[in-house]
Amino acid sequence: MKERTFTMIKPFAVQKGFIAPILDDIHNGGFKIIAIKMKQLTQEHAQLFYDIHKDKAFYNTLVDFMSSGPVVAVVLEKDNAVEDYRKLIGNTDPQKAEKGTIRSKYAKDITHNAVHGSDSIENAKTEICFFFSETEIYSI
Ligand code: CMP
Repeated sequence: MKERTFTMIKPFAVQKGFIAPILDDIHNGGFKIIAIKMKQLTQEHAQLFYDIHKDKAFYNTLVDFMSSGPVVAVVLEKDNAVEDYRKLIGNTDPQKAEKGTIRSKYAKDITHNAVHGSDSIENAKTEICFFFSETEIYSI
């Protein structure tokens, strides 16, 4: 069944010029892009997006990094999108990510890990709403 997930290309990957190659991998993985936007997050936006991690030791580093430059937010559609996208990007820690995955190819370390991907259908909905209004999402 068609499902939607959310991804965000992180500032380090944007600065390195990896937007196009990452979108190419996403396309080759069978995902359809139904919304896309480049955006600079404020510290407050980044804090809110990662609120679930607010008690973790890495929270402030993560928030500083995520608001350090523009990100690319993307809504993806595919059968089994959430699970399949997590497979395509690989482990959160790029050193543990399987060869050929997006994080293994484009990430520097666990903070600069190239992309975020939703970990559940419910979180995908929340994260999509964080970046996009209904009228910015298309049926293609
Ligand atoms: P992301 O998929 O965006 O979701 C939360 C982010 O927190 C994660 O990618 C990493 O960039 C970061 N993160 C998760 N665990 C750690 C950790 N142990 N140390 C530093 N950063 C982490």
